[in-house]
Amino acid sequence: MQLKILHYFKNSSDYVSGEEISRNLKISRAAVWKNIEELRKRGYIFDAVPHMGYKLKAIPDKLLTHEIQNGLMTRFVGKNIECYDSISSTMEKAFGLGLEGAEEGTVICAESQTKGKGRRGRSWSSPKGKGIYVSVILRPTLALRDVAKLTLLTGVCVCEAVNTMTNLKSTIKWPNDVLINGRKVAGILTELRAELDQVRFVVVGIGINVNTPLSSLPPQATSIKQEFNKSISRLDLLREVLKRLEELYTEVQVKGFARVLNRWKELSSTLGKTIRIVDQNGEVEGIAVDLDDYGGIVLEDSEGKRVVRMSGDIH
Ligand code: BTN
Repeated sequence: MQLKILHYFKNSSDYVSGEEISRNLKISRAAVWKNIEELRKRGYIFDAVPHMGYKLKAIPDKLLTHEIQNGLMTRFVGKNIECYDSISSTMEKAFGLGLEGAEEGTVICAESQTKGKGRRGRSWSSPKGKGIYVSVILRPTLALRDVAKLTLLTGVCVCEAVNTMTNLKSTIKWPNDVLINGRKVAGILTELRAELDQVRFVVVGIGINVNTPLSSLPPQATSIKQEFNKSISRLDLLREVLKRLEELYTEVQVKGFARVLNRWKELSSTLGKTIRIVDQNGEVEGIAVDLDDYGGIVLEDSEGKRVVRMSGDIH
């Protein structure tokens, strides 16, 4: 009933009397009042004026399924959304659901994570109500060798969404860090279940430091609030990211990755720089000159010799 009442308010630009709601939703006036009080406890703000009724003034910036879906311009990403107040990691939950056959586009999000995972066994700071911690289950019809590019694709989506919602110019550090003014604001983690000849599912995990105070973040990290000097709506940003994710993901399965890789190159803060990559094979140094067709970074050393790296940390 709370959802019906909320829907009623969202469709009314003016004050609505308790009597009108009671009549239209066929519940008692006492039930209307009780539901509005419950909604207030959940962070919804109502103005109440005698003889005029109630008006919905503000919704809480909480990642609730019905709020995310309200205005979400997608076909399948976010059709199913599970939101948790606290969870160990949205990756674990999404992977379990993926194994159980969850539909493509299922979204798992949380207000906080107790064991947020980063790349290469690191942790991801996930303080309550401050950031976006979300995992999306995809079932691509892509060859295994192309799946790594979904990480780059997601980086493009996050970067463009941040730049659309702020006047900031975020960039991408290979392979998947989104930076603002050179400091990390978002990270992407991709996990998958595959056989040699078939990808069963992919879980794309996105962590964005939205309104996170610096005191909750590692030293080289930042948040959108810190760089933009004001809080932004996590709901709006999440919807923007999910919309872009569906658009680009749909595009690459039909037309391939060429446009996404070009867009990644435009947003990159890595290309053209002298970098050192450390991975399980050791260290290589050179100028980052290109991305290869599989999303690997191409380095050119001082003698003009080129090497490609598919993973690792850039220094
Ligand atoms: C990285 O840059 O190291 C990747 C960070 C990925 C963090 C996100 S938050 C949502 C999802 N759940 C997790 O436990 N990790 C990813």
